[in-house]
Amino acid sequence: MTSGPIAVIGASGQVASALVRRARESRQALIARGHPAADLTDITTIGHFIDEVRPSVVVNAAAYTAVDNAESEPEAAFQLNAEGPGRLAVICAALSLPLIHISTDYVFDGLSDTPYPEDAPLQPMSAYGASKAAGEMAVSAACAHHIILRTAWVYGLEGNNFVKTMLRLGAQRDELGIVADQQGSPTFADDIADVILAISGKINTGDRVHFGTYHFTSTGATTWHEFAETIFSHAKAAGRKTPQTAKAITTADYPTPARRPAYSVLDCDKIESTFSIARPTWQDALSRAMPAILER
Ligand SMILES: NC(=O)c1ccc[n+]([C@@H]2O[C@H](COP(=O)([O-])OP(=O)(O)OC[C@H]3O[C@@H](n4cnc5c(N)ncnc54)[C@H](OP(=O)(O)O)[C@@H]3O)[C@@H](O)[C@H]2O)c1
Repeated sequence: MTSGPIAVIGASGQVASALVRRARESRQALIARGHPAADLTDITTIGHFIDEVRPSVVVNAAAYTAVDNAESEPEAAFQLNAEGPGRLAVICAALSLPLIHISTDYVFDGLSDTPYPEDAPLQPMSAYGASKAAGEMAVSAACAHHIILRTAWVYGLEGNNFVKTMLRLGAQRDELGIVADQQGSPTFADDIADVILAISGKINTGDRVHFGTYHFTSTGATTWHEFAETIFSHAKAAGRKTPQTAKAITTADYPTPARRPAYSVLDCDKIESTFSIARPTWQDALSRAMPAILER
């Protein structure tokens, strides 16, 4: 049995905010700190944070997530997504602290047509994906007691995300074009937070934990276009203005600096069987999230 709170690096991001809220609701001790007080590019500040908090588990929820900007400033993406987590992992290993590090579907090439298992080869197609893949390797090399949790298509109550962008654009425009040839599994940040808290709880109660890499998303797969249509149906039911036409377009119709995976569905069997974690369908998760998102 270990005592000490969960220490979260990052405080204002989607997953970090969900962790803070869900831990408070479930009365778990958790202290989150954002930058500059805990800056992943200035490892001294992270060392001070950990010394002060004396945690039982460390969660890295901080990242460089501006996927398109990473193409023009890869050094900044690597500094935050690879070098910082690597140095954090060295600190955790020295203190025998388990480290939960969040990663992404973008470490894969997106060329598959079946869900990616944890041991599929890392073949990122963007600078962001490459920086996250390098972060995974740095964490696993430095700290044996790590959980790398890959997730995808994240939306939360706090922070910016696709759901909020669709609500904003849908209120402003009568016609929207939305990409319909990329498939993935939209995942509610609260569900990711609950999984991290469940794994941390197992670590804290002294259960034998199988460290390593895990995938977690909602079940099912969809396209951005179908996801947007579902968001609009919730918005419409709540009396919000939605676009008259949500046109299905292709990736080629909507060029972006970073290449995105066409198919990024993750096989999540391992986390379900190892940690007895139940996953919601993406539609159920969205139904739970929408009232609170619409209220904000
Ligand atoms: N968003 C997605 O769709 C998605 C999909 C798959 C995986 N993921 C992964 O999930 C994790 C959480 O993502 P998210 O959506 O919660 O990201 P997010 O909302 O963009 O939050 C990232 C956080 O990192 C913080 N940060 C930036 N620079 C920092 C620094 N130097 N030191 C410490 N913190 C710093 C940011 O703070 P400021 O806002 O104050 O700069 C922000 O709070 C990341 O590892 C991401 O790669 C995300």
